[in-house]
Amino acid sequence: MRPDPLAYLATELDSLKAQGLYRRLRILESEQRAETTFDHTSVVNLSSNNYLGLTTHPRLRAAAVRAIEEFGVGSGSVRTIAGTMAIHMELEERLADFKKTEAAVVFQSGFTANAGTVSSVLTKDDVVISDELNHASIIDGCRLSRATIKVFPHKDIDAARAILRSLPASQRKLLITDGVFSMDGDLGPLPALCALAEEFGCLMMVDDAHASGVFGANGRGTVDHFGVHGRVDIQVGTLSKAIGALGGYVAGNRPFIEFLYHRARPFLFSTSHPPSVAATCIAALDVLIEEPEIIDRLWDNTRFFKAGLQALGFNTGMSESPITPVIVGDGARAMTLALEPSDAELRIEHLPTEVIVRASTAKIEN
Ligand SMILES: Cc1ncc(COP(=O)(O)O)c(C=O)c1O
Repeated sequence: MRPDPLAYLATELDSLKAQGLYRRLRILESEQRAETTFDHTSVVNLSSNNYLGLTTHPRLRAAAVRAIEEFGVGSGSVRTIAGTMAIHMELEERLADFKKTEAAVVFQSGFTANAGTVSSVLTKDDVVISDELNHASIIDGCRLSRATIKVFPHKDIDAARAILRSLPASQRKLLITDGVFSMDGDLGPLPALCALAEEFGCLMMVDDAHASGVFGANGRGTVDHFGVHGRVDIQVGTLSKAIGALGGYVAGNRPFIEFLYHRARPFLFSTSHPPSVAATCIAALDVLIEEPEIIDRLWDNTRFFKAGLQALGFNTGMSESPITPVIVGDGARAMTLALEPSDAELRIEHLPTEVIVRASTAKIEN
């Protein structure tokens, strides 16, 4: 028998284990709710992206069931062949309206929306100017485009300006930021970046995956929150987080969206959503418009949670959003606290000037 050619991967895994970075998948045994059961243990779930509880909202469930009854469980094709159903078009119109743009296109995920968009609008002759903490899907899109990638330090407008100044005026360039940064929960400086994009003639793109449903009127995102409608050429959002289902979308002017219909590879070469997903997302938009108090509740919870952590002395970083990092020092420590709660037996002692978190393998003082 030949030796296993994949054996080197086991070595990689051993190395992750030695560094305390090995990930065991937690198994969710009931619905994605605030109080739920993972691995036979009842927990308060503070880790999902289900910001508004829409994954289990009765109106969304009913819409999904109705769509399954009426249209079946799959679309049967990619969008450009036979997989564009009326409900997909309805969702795109509703998203354009929600984002106050001319048009929108839905992708299978937020990841493919970012990667498919950046890789289709840029070529190897172009330059992308990207915040160092932008999401992996933006980074992959940049790589796929083969454009030159210039990264500026997190939210550093002066550094972004210096990059732009060094480029010829005729150079096509894309300035790109997350609206809400997914790990630290802080906001991209949209007004300053829009001003830079205007000064230097760049395309401006915002990934509002964590802002849609959370910031702005009825959850329209950071573009609405900062009042920069019309100044962001490419708005990306996800249907997988606050919206509670699955998918991503891009909103912008009609020619741009039609270009994506023709050139974005995940749109062209991967089957469209089941009709139930589109119906669910339409119902979610209805809920955002008709029940905006659920967004107020999210913010009440956010303020309560952050104030509690801060009163206990935890370092919650620069967060300005419901994403609340608890900074404990290094990756292995964070992994211990996050992945092995029963083992770690997390105990928090509130002392006047410090917090001590005791885990089986780590004592952390900050
Ligand atoms: C900032 C950001 N953009 C895009 C995505 C991808 O969205 P989706 O989960 O819908 O693929 C994520 C999700 O992890 C994200 O955090």
